[in-house]
Amino acid sequence: MAILITGGAGYIGSHTCVELLNAGYEIVVLDNFINSKPEAIKRITEITGCTFKFYYNDLLDKKSLEEIFLENKIEAVIHFAGLKAVGESVYIPLQYYHNNILSTLVLCETMKKYNVKKLVFSSSATVYGAPEKCPISENSPLRALNPYGRTKLMIEEILQDLYVSDTNWSISILRYFNPIGAHESGQIGEDPHGVPNNLMPYIAQVAIGKLKELNVFGDQYSTNDGTGVRDYIHVVDLALGHLRALEKVTYSTGIEVYNLGTGKGYSVLEMISAFEIASGKKIPYKIVDPRPGDVAVCYADPVKAMESLGWIAKKGINEMCEDAWRWQNKNKNGYEKNLHIESPHFIPSEDFLIRSK
Ligand code: WQD
Repeated sequence: MAILITGGAGYIGSHTCVELLNAGYEIVVLDNFINSKPEAIKRITEITGCTFKFYYNDLLDKKSLEEIFLENKIEAVIHFAGLKAVGESVYIPLQYYHNNILSTLVLCETMKKYNVKKLVFSSSATVYGAPEKCPISENSPLRALNPYGRTKLMIEEILQDLYVSDTNWSISILRYFNPIGAHESGQIGEDPHGVPNNLMPYIAQVAIGKLKELNVFGDQYSTNDGTGVRDYIHVVDLALGHLRALEKVTYSTGIEVYNLGTGKGYSVLEMISAFEIASGKKIPYKIVDPRPGDVAVCYADPVKAMESLGWIAKKGINEMCEDAWRWQNKNKNGYEKNLHIESPHFIPSEDFLIRSK
């Protein structure tokens, strides 16, 4: 029995594939490389020594998705695939609604057709919008403030309705806070397109000299040093949270939401200092105006995941920064090798079966 990982070549998806393979799971990975690179797939095998089936497919292509269910005994699905840039979603909302929601509908319809009703869904803390108070628990008010966050909230509601219609489903919805860091090997990590929107990859690119200095978005917030506070969580801790959620959906039915965060907040200036210690590099920065839509403080109450999933984030901010630096320093341009995708098949190595789009 295999676990289907949609978006498995992405930042969180690839780290989750590594932990699943290390735990002995059989996985089948689907990705269309809109937000990832084929090289990440090769690196997963290099890290784990495990091979797995990979399909170069778009989730919107229902026929090719059905073939995956016909060709493999899928037991459960971890669904990462989706567009995920907050700022971009404001400019191209229709693409975000079409891609994120329709692909999830196609996935759930196909799962239902093949009687696969165990799903772990990648949601986001952006569904909380501007939290009234922190720490944020799962029953805090939901009010997404951008199209990206609204797609996640709408999908959560679709999944709730799906469960009400058929209580044989078993669904875990995971709301991520701020994933950063990389696998200790430095072989896989965050590889943003163009200039990074998020803090950690931006700092890392300043450290290697790709970017000149960091713009700190505001220092007048009601926080210790005036800069924004977030709940940064190591991507490997996040990946391990998916394995706990997968176990949960494997052995029970029902639908549950879990915050995956550390429960601790760090400011931008604290992150700069931690990264300077981890990398030995000075991070020049300047204070600029606040970024529209940013909230002052956002961090999780992780108690429910601890009590229900037996999961807690273990890696601290220093390890997050050390691992982020190792990845960036070893991969100055990310996954720059863009393995050529030949039609009709793209075989990065003999270990992969891939079905072209
Ligand atoms: C963190 C802090 C910024 C960049 C986003 C998405 C969220 C989730 C995680 C997908 C804030 C400050 C940032 C910079 C800065 N992704 N900052 N200069 O906005 O908390 O969350 O990523 O689910 O959906 O919204 O993360 O890393 O962009 O910002 O000062 O160049 O760093 O103001 O305080 P954010 P971020």
